[in-house]
Amino acid sequence: MRVGISLAAASATLALLAFTSPASAVDAFEVIKDGIPKPLTSTPGSAARGKALLQQKKQANCLECHRTKELPGGKRAPALDGIALGKTAAQLRLSVVDFSMVKPGKIMPVFHNVRGEEPPRLNAQEVEDVVAFLLTLRQSPRTGVVQEEGQPAKP
Ligand code: HEC
Repeated sequence: MRVGISLAAASATLALLAFTSPASAVDAFEVIKDGIPKPLTSTPGSAARGKALLQQKKQANCLECHRTKELPGGKRAPALDGIALGKTAAQLRLSVVDFSMVKPGKIMPVFHNVRGEEPPRLNAQEVEDVVAFLLTLRQSPRTGVVQEEGQPAKP
């Protein structure tokens, strides 16, 4: 048994637990409503390390699809400028851990969950670093958002 998943859905609350097991490099996390409120690590994320991870374009290949004003990248997904304005850290953490739990059927890879790659693309600390970087993207309004069919760009 590699992983245990317990699913409890109350009217507004969806709780899902992934347990770490020796065979899995995915850290335990708990989804509450639409996010993961508790950081995956006790060491706070570093925005500078997160930005560097994006720039390296290796395990964090975000810029294959996304971009920011400062970091050129792809056009297959919305620009990340201003992403933190309408999102909580918890929501951003869940997006990076497993975007299929936010919106199924999108091309965004699963970066830190058992349904993604094994070992996961990003370890727990790298997830926290990337989230810390995303949280700095507050200043600039979202511009140049590529709209997916039928989906209006969020302000
Ligand atoms: C293969 C393409 C691809 C890669 C690589 C990718 N994403 Fe995404 N990402 C998407 C798509 C497509 C969406 C969904 C946009 C939509 O329809 O809402 C998305 C959504 C998101 C969202 C939520 C946006 C919102 O408005 O809710 C965040 C945050 C995000 N990505 C961050 C990242 C980060 C950080 C990385 C790298 C660790 C990354 N993405 C890598 C394609 C990608």
